[in-house]
Amino acid sequence: MREWKEFDVITKGDGMWLIDEKGNRLLDGVASMWCNVWGHSKKELVNIIIKQTKKLQHSSLFNLTNDKAELLAEKLVKMSPGMNRVFYSDDGSTAMEIAIKIAIQYWQNKGIKNKTKIVSLQNGYHGDTIGSMSLGYVPLFFSRFKKLLFPVVRTPTPEKYRIPNGFTFEEYQTHCIKKIENIFSENKDVAAFFMESGAQIAGGVVIYPENFQRKISQLCKKYNILFVLDEIATGFGRLGSLIEYHAQNSIPDIVSYGKMLTGGYLPLAATLTNNRIYESFLGKYGDMRHFFHGHTFTGNPIACATALTNLEMYKKNKLISKIQRSSKQLESRILEINELDHVGDVRHKGMIMGIELVSNKKKKTAIKPEKSIYKKIFVEAKKHKIYLRSLGNIVMVVPPLAISKNELDFLLDGTIDTIKKVTKVI
Ligand SMILES: Cc1ncc(COP(=O)(O)O)c(C=O)c1O
Repeated sequence: MREWKEFDVITKGDGMWLIDEKGNRLLDGVASMWCNVWGHSKKELVNIIIKQTKKLQHSSLFNLTNDKAELLAEKLVKMSPGMNRVFYSDDGSTAMEIAIKIAIQYWQNKGIKNKTKIVSLQNGYHGDTIGSMSLGYVPLFFSRFKKLLFPVVRTPTPEKYRIPNGFTFEEYQTHCIKKIENIFSENKDVAAFFMESGAQIAGGVVIYPENFQRKISQLCKKYNILFVLDEIATGFGRLGSLIEYHAQNSIPDIVSYGKMLTGGYLPLAATLTNNRIYESFLGKYGDMRHFFHGHTFTGNPIACATALTNLEMYKKNKLISKIQRSSKQLESRILEINELDHVGDVRHKGMIMGIELVSNKKKKTAIKPEKSIYKKIFVEAKKHKIYLRSLGNIVMVVPPLAISKNELDFLLDGTIDTIKKVTKVI
């Protein structure tokens, strides 16, 4: 905070634009932390919030339920192949905590007490609570808490831009899959494999090669290990498909949704499971098989009603088709961006683009943190009337999913000009 005199105070949202107290407008280039779908102040979403607020604001899911939570659960199950049950929570991190606890308790409910080990991908990110930090350990963010985190076995992610010496990309993918299979075959105590679905986002927009996720899902089946997916940042169209695991030809045992579930208007997340998992939690009360977990605002009816309207709007507005067109528009600018002096790599899928800046293109040298590239990008982008938030040296272009053609061009033009200006002296 020492480096920031003050933050601009946003007081209003208007479509794809954020407006501060002085009336300055910024195009929301990060979809307000990767969750906004339709832009701000969308009439249908605002109306449903008002309507539901007048009717029922909150009622707990402890021994009761509410109509909107029930309807949304039905809808989520219908649209999620292989999934049968829904457990609500408030945000992505809690949805992942729930996924961890369900996966671990599942084996105990089955009477298999030794299966407690978790395997996940290096470089993953699943949230900032203790359990989700353990899953997706990012040294820069989490090293101070290392002692508190539970041990997780981590396997390499096939990152194309920095393949270790001696491998082709094809060979490296085989190596990554082999590593997973070796761990599965040598450790009978593995309970579950966790990964982000389709791509690692906070880890630097690492888009998995074709079949990588499918192969892991098959290995989990072969070795009777639960396959747990995090679609919090990548589902609901962000990577171009409504259900990313379906597009990847993989079926999880447990999957978590968040961020765009309510169009990015209210905090709500969901952890879905198949019947195999659900049924293991059934029994007489005294069997103590049930899931001792719940949050105050679990299944909040205003959030659930908003999510229902949001999902109806996906259908009504044919959003997934529109996303595919916008994705092509993003793709058409990659060459131009790649040619910039300090752009090392551009990674894109659907409605997300990560532009990695380097100090030396040939050697792929990372720009030193002292250069505060992320801050310079933010400050310069504002001059171009856009809001960009980078991940270190990776400039993130993550617009609201329904952004118009002109606004997407405006965002890309501004991003290119920002990069040019900031990287003039590196
Ligand atoms: C893949 C993934 N999982 C989990 C989370 C955590 O979600 P939240 O910030 O809502 O707790 C994030 C947040 O960015 C994420 O990208």
